[in-house]
Amino acid sequence: MAKEKTVYVCSNCGQESPKWVGKCPSCGAWNTFVEEVVRKEPAASHRTAFTASAEGKRNKPVVLSDIVGSEEPRIDMHDDELNRVLGGGLVPGSLVLLGGEPGIGKSTLVLQTVLRMPERRILYVSGEESARQLKLRADRIRHNSSDCLIVCETSLEHIFTHIKNVQPELVIIDSIQTISTELVESSPGSVAQVRECAASILKFAKETNTPVILIGHINKEGSIAGPKVLEHIVDAVLQFEGDQHYMYRILRSIKNRFGSTAELGIYEMRQDGLRPVSNPSELLLSADHEGMSGVAIACAIEGVRPFLIETQALVSTAAYGTPQRSATGFDIRRMNMLLAVLEKRVGFKLAQKDVFLNIAGGLRVNDPAIDLGVISAILSSNMDSDIEPLVCMAGEVGLSGEIRPVNRIEQRISEAEKLGFKSILIPRHNLQGLDTSKVKIELVGVRKVEEAFRFLFG
Ligand code: TYD
Ligand code: MG
Repeated sequence: MAKEKTVYVCSNCGQESPKWVGKCPSCGAWNTFVEEVVRKEPAASHRTAFTASAEGKRNKPVVLSDIVGSEEPRIDMHDDELNRVLGGGLVPGSLVLLGGEPGIGKSTLVLQTVLRMPERRILYVSGEESARQLKLRADRIRHNSSDCLIVCETSLEHIFTHIKNVQPELVIIDSIQTISTELVESSPGSVAQVRECAASILKFAKETNTPVILIGHINKEGSIAGPKVLEHIVDAVLQFEGDQHYMYRILRSIKNRFGSTAELGIYEMRQDGLRPVSNPSELLLSADHEGMSGVAIACAIEGVRPFLIETQALVSTAAYGTPQRSATGFDIRRMNMLLAVLEKRVGFKLAQKDVFLNIAGGLRVNDPAIDLGVISAILSSNMDSDIEPLVCMAGEVGLSGEIRPVNRIEQRISEAEKLGFKSILIPRHNLQGLDTSKVKIELVGVRKVEEAFRFLFG
């Protein structure tokens, strides 16, 4: 028997190497090479698992202007958040990858969506759960559409047979890491399997114009498990994220060939499935914090949506020699930078203090405009003096203590106004060219952190 040919594949980017190497020459990741068995088919007979009936048909190059560019109607997913993240609905023939950590709610999101679409023939392929488990979940979500077809299958060849018999209008594959094809000998979930299966599914989607949603797991580094090539071949990558201990989940679009990647959907995990949150601010500003120090309301924009978010800080005298610094939902290095600014530019002595920062609701905010909220909360806790409850703020803090302008200020102002805030602190620079005639909320332009503190704490 011929010795099995093996090759080493980078589990991060898919780079191949005949021997093991510690550092991937392509993506630079360390210790990502894994051994895989290959069974290379001769090039001429190479066929993917999906052998379309239209084989032999060749595409001819055509002039771009001759292509009829009629916008295809998008498939309505009956879920405003999902529709928006997809860029206005699912595009027929597109391959969408939904990634997320285990247990975050990917299967729940997809199942509740397909149960809301009884008018379409949908095939839900589950490689992870039994039909009974899916039924239990469907009962929990309480959408009793019986039309969705469920099949528990992990062989790609069998899946294509089912597809041929059923002729579905939408296919769900939960998850790509459990599916395997006979063409590749390595185990399910390996780089070669994931790549080969995804390529066959892509071919199927494009040739039959059937949309396919793939569910994918995220590895411990936070990227979608399997090679990066998976992200390259699909049309859209959606990431479902959130803290398992909180009920909020964010659906982000990382890549979208048919829409913007700035879109974001927010859900709340309930006993009976995921509920879209159309107004995130109202949820995030739940607690009544009047008279409490260490709380500041910041107006952030994630994706394209503005929302107000509570930043909470606790500053206390360090019990041990080295003060502790911890931040949840905010970059710790950025917090250290802000503390240094407070120390150096404003003269507050925080070197011997423990500082804990928390963004309420378990969300992770990357918008630098919440800087002003963060330092105000820290200072409020340090001085044990509360900030007026109907005041919110937006502004990036620079290294010399200046408040730098932020983008989309009009949206932030109108969100604060909509939620009944009395005043909003904004960078003075943003006041220039701002049409203030219709603004009812008090706008306080600030140039430096000291000015902001004078306004907040008198
Ligand atoms: P699941 O969709 O199985 O996650 P994934 O497919 O991403 O691994 O979600 C599992 C979690 O969601 C589980 O911890 C229970 C919780 N859950 C609810 O809170 N409410 C519900 O209605 C359902 C169906 C699940
Ligand atoms: Mg699942």
